[in-house]
Amino acid sequence: MANSTAKFIVLMGMQGAGKGTQAEILQEHLHIPHITSGGMFRATMQQDTPLAHEIKSYYDAGNLVPDTLTIRMIKGRLQESDAENGVILDGFPRTVAQAKALDELMIELGQKIAVVPFFVITEAEAMKRLGGRRVCTKDDNHVYHITDNPPNVNGICDIDGAPLKIRSDDTPDAIQKRLKAYANDTTPVLDYYREAGLLQEVNAEQPIEKVTADLKAVVEGQTA
Ligand code: AP5
Ligand code: MG
Repeated sequence: MANSTAKFIVLMGMQGAGKGTQAEILQEHLHIPHITSGGMFRATMQQDTPLAHEIKSYYDAGNLVPDTLTIRMIKGRLQESDAENGVILDGFPRTVAQAKALDELMIELGQKIAVVPFFVITEAEAMKRLGGRRVCTKDDNHVYHITDNPPNVNGICDIDGAPLKIRSDDTPDAIQKRLKAYANDTTPVLDYYREAGLLQEVNAEQPIEKVTADLKAVVEGQTA
């Protein structure tokens, strides 16, 4: 049976806006899982399978993975038992077709999206952040920035002690393509949620702690 206090939160924002960074913090606070479509694709790409090779061909070029494949993956994840009390979605939906599929799934699960925090940053700031991002080789949800969010020990993850690396899609060409995909395919999703009365802007061009405080206020205001 559907849990009436569940919190289904959808984080939106340009590449580099800090969705992954904030979702990791928020999941500790709300005790619900952080579900990242990009992270799920990165995990799949570790395998040597035809599916992994197919995803890699889109991912490394900075192109969106086709909707059918992406929707099937997220649908399966949201049907797992740890998603019953809600989830923090990061990176999904990012086409209107995906947003509609999520609405249908919410109906099937007897749930509703509580709020859609939208992280607002400029493209110049996004480029700066992506250019300096480093992720943990053991768990790429552990995200750093060489100057703005550095680890305690240069090149080493604070949490796992593993070396850091540059993400395979943080190349200048792929960054350009990802930002283009955002403008073409994902900005209509912002309108979709704005019209549904769910979109809440968060100024993401502030220090991480300040963004977290504003995000918590938005989430608690909408889902308490
Ligand atoms: P995905 O993994 O979702 O990447 P993205 O959308 O490009 O977003 P990012 O992870 O780059 O940005 P973020 O907002 O999480 O920023 P972060 O917290 O890391 O998708 C990757 C690919 O997978 C796609 O291109 C596509 O191929 C595929 N894909 C995924 N979902 C899909 C879907 N639904 N449909 C189709 N294809 C899909 O922060 C960035 C940097 O900034 C870090 O260095 C961080 O330390 C730093 N930082 C964060 N906050 C601050 C702050 N407040 N101040 C200063 N620095 C900060
Ligand atoms: Mg991310």
